[in-house]
Amino acid sequence: MSSHHDAPEPDTPDVINVSRRGFLKGFGAGTVATGLLSPAAMREAAAAAKGGWLGPGEIPITLKVNGTTRQLKVEPRVTLLDALRNRLDITGPKKVCDRGTCGACTVLVDGQPAYSCSMLAIEAEGRAITTVEGLGTPDKMNAVQKAFVKHDAQQCGFCTPGFVTAATGFVRNNPNASVDEICQALGGNLCRCGTYAGMLLVAAELAQKKGGV
Ligand code: FES
Ligand code: FES
Repeated sequence: MSSHHDAPEPDTPDVINVSRRGFLKGFGAGTVATGLLSPAAMREAAAAAKGGWLGPGEIPITLKVNGTTRQLKVEPRVTLLDALRNRLDITGPKKVCDRGTCGACTVLVDGQPAYSCSMLAIEAEGRAITTVEGLGTPDKMNAVQKAFVKHDAQQCGFCTPGFVTAATGFVRNNPNASVDEICQALGGNLCRCGTYAGMLLVAAELAQKKGGV
């Protein structure tokens, strides 16, 4: 688990336990089936089909983040979270567990909440990525951000960007959601400070508001 800070972290773990062939097999099957192969992922799959591969060095990719098109170079194995934080200096999504359990890294991918630590940057090519920075500013917060402030639903605040992003994505897609449904939708986000009482008030306000986020 990483510590509570925003300093760039190396995205080069020492050991990779999954064989590249096994990874590409699984990766190809899953992404082709859903029809969501990004341009770089298609290049990767095409190279793999010929018995080759892209990488392990960096390859150029294009990400659309918060409405802006950004060019960057990453190794094909780099997660979206590391690409955002370490290459694009977008540090709203936090790296806490780095294994898909805490939700601190939540971003919206084509409007759907997703763990950016569990998605490759190359998979995100061609899709609209929204981070908490794209939801509002301190001067112009969205309704979820305002509700978090109003109900004091944070302590250290490290989990907050993930909660705000997940809640925004869910309420946008489900404007008539009940308090229970909103709470359930936030089940993939954990707060180590235990500010759930405040978040319950946020959920109650959002349920009453019915959309407009
Ligand atoms: S960092 Fe915990 S789910 Fe991504
Ligand atoms: S982890 Fe500290 S406010 Fe949630």
